[in-house]
Amino acid sequence: MYSAPRGVPDILPEDQVYWHYVGQKAAHICQLYGYERIDLPVFEDTRVFVKGTGDTTDIVQKEMYTFEDRGGNSVTLKPEGTPSVCRAYLEHGMQNLPQPVKLFYISPIFRYDRPQAGRYRQHYQFGCEAIGEADAFLDAEVIDMAWRFMKSLGLRKILLYINSIGCPQCRPDYLGKLRSYYKGHVNDLCPDCKIRLEKNVLRLLDCKQPGCQKIVAAAPRNVDYLCPDCTEHFAKLKEYLKMLDIPFEVNSYLVRGLDYYTRTVFEIQSEEEKAQNALGGGGRYDGLIETLGGKPTPGIGFALGIDRIILNLKKEAVDVPPIPAPQVFIASLGEPARNEAMKLAAALRQKGIGVISATSAKSLKAQLRQANNLKISKTVIIGDDEVKAGTAVLRDMFTSQQSTVKLSELPKLLK
Ligand code: HAM
Repeated sequence: MYSAPRGVPDILPEDQVYWHYVGQKAAHICQLYGYERIDLPVFEDTRVFVKGTGDTTDIVQKEMYTFEDRGGNSVTLKPEGTPSVCRAYLEHGMQNLPQPVKLFYISPIFRYDRPQAGRYRQHYQFGCEAIGEADAFLDAEVIDMAWRFMKSLGLRKILLYINSIGCPQCRPDYLGKLRSYYKGHVNDLCPDCKIRLEKNVLRLLDCKQPGCQKIVAAAPRNVDYLCPDCTEHFAKLKEYLKMLDIPFEVNSYLVRGLDYYTRTVFEIQSEEEKAQNALGGGGRYDGLIETLGGKPTPGIGFALGIDRIILNLKKEAVDVPPIPAPQVFIASLGEPARNEAMKLAAALRQKGIGVISATSAKSLKAQLRQANNLKISKTVIIGDDEVKAGTAVLRDMFTSQQSTVKLSELPKLLK
């Protein structure tokens, strides 16, 4: 017996109803906000992520599935979507289109993380990227879109946190303040944070270790060290969000785990869940396109974790509509009847009616049981007598009422 790789869940038919629901809602919200779908390769040149995601991030340092292909090129299974979208934006000359270019994706994402509930080595993200516009108007629209999407799914117990982490002008000053604060607490830091202090001091604010959390709580706040432009941008964003009636909280220590963010960052979290509570997040990345070789081009986006969203839909007992399934079952007895059943099934499907035919020669009782188990509402029964008479028995599976009808009239009748 083989099993799926650790931390890589199978998505079984009984769960597809949730995936279908989320996928449909995602496509709908993208239509409302003018985002077009983009599907990108599952793997990319490793440099896209080392450069794009950033070589001091946990993702690049310890979570990527990287390997050499048979041509000796280093490739990596997509550990996030944003650098890929930016690479495609540049590769396909999208800077020549009207800006911002708005793209969305639903994609598998691979991270070699420690698996646990809500944290997988392969998960799926619904992501949106809007590239080519720096105005806070767009930040508000993007956050509005993510928030309304989550609400449209029926999730109630969610919270929105926002923050501004400044720009290359003001951040060095803040990082200096943060560094000297942390130098005073170096002995109380976890081993990972001791490394972060040397490599990427902003990441210290991300640490979930209880000991480090206490130190975070009194750390200098980025919002107190923003330059006038970033202050203005953040103030505008908050004003727009209030105007849109979006309930948000400023979390001054929200930095997110990726290197490319500038100014706005945000996260939507589950109110109840403690571990793996981030259902999605995003932010502005005004330097990313340039890092990947393009002209300076601003961008902003988010990605929502579909697996975690579905866990929360279940936890909040949100009713999701069923996927339409065949509502007609055809039972047949004897070879001539089976031939009629096959022809009838084809005729019904041509009319757009979903059909399940009994495929092997079982007793009528067994066939009706099968129809019952499939929760089908109507069963057509064809035996030798019916074949001779050109008729069939139509049975309502909920009331058990039966009537004899002409075979030729069945497609119209069932439609
Ligand atoms: P991220 O926060 O790394 O952002 O991932 C987005 C979401 O994916 C998370 O909030 C979480 O719901 C889900 N997620 C992440 N890792 C896992 C995992 N191991 N198992 C299950 N779900 C997971 C990004 O990836 C950025 N590219 C978002 C973005 C787009 N920023 C700007 N544009």
